[in-house]
Amino acid sequence: MTDIELSHYGSEDALPTHLRWQISSFIRQWWNDPHTDQVNAPIMNPDWKPVFFVLTQGLAIVAHAAVAAKNVTHADQKYRVYGLCSVFTYRAFQGRGLGQRVVAAASDYIDSQADADIGLLFTRRELVGFYEGAGWVPMDRMIVMIGEPAAQSPDYPMMRFVSARAKADRPNFEHAEFFFGASKW
Ligand SMILES: CC(C)(COP(=O)(O)OP(=O)(O)OC[C@H]1O[C@@H](n2cnc3c(N)ncnc32)[C@H](O)[C@@H]1OP(=O)(O)O)[C@@H](O)C(=O)NCCC(=O)NCCS
Repeated sequence: MTDIELSHYGSEDALPTHLRWQISSFIRQWWNDPHTDQVNAPIMNPDWKPVFFVLTQGLAIVAHAAVAAKNVTHADQKYRVYGLCSVFTYRAFQGRGLGQRVVAAASDYIDSQADADIGLLFTRRELVGFYEGAGWVPMDRMIVMIGEPAAQSPDYPMMRFVSARAKADRPNFEHAEFFFGASKW
């Protein structure tokens, strides 16, 4: 069996075509977001400067995570927020630690960004343990507001506090309403 390799691509344009389509196909099947009927649109909003981590076996993706970034103002402070997005492992490869491996690589990347204040991901409650293993913090009492007009997000938020300023400001996020923006990543 061919070995599983980890690769990192610094933009959507840098993704080889066969990988790009495997990522977007998995996303279209798994997530029922409003934009997933736009089959030829970019995988992620280019303004968020997405980067991609893939585990491949030959030409096939077995696991994936993307990282995106945007500025968010919260409690009158501007933060550079990095998102962990579209994490998946293809079914036959689940339960072998590959999801954990790709999440660790993407999380290390977030921690190494000089401008990063905060990491933010949206997940389901049953996956809290999966992400906690890579240093993500459950934000039980933070209410995320998304959209125009803003409405409470049904997803479960987890964060990582990267910069010294964000670490000091952590209590300001824990019991707060957090306005993320027009659409989630
Ligand atoms: C969630 C997902 C990425 C996990 O990938 P994976 O490669 O199977 O994960 P790993 O093998 O690295 O699992 C690591 C740990 O997380 C736990 N875990 C994995 N999937 C889980 C799930 N669905 N529910 C609860 N725990 C889970 C595992 O039990 C394991 O814990 P252990 O080390 O104590 O045994 C995979 O199930 C998947 O692609 N799901 C569909 C897409 C999805 O839901 N993505 C997450 C979006 S937020």
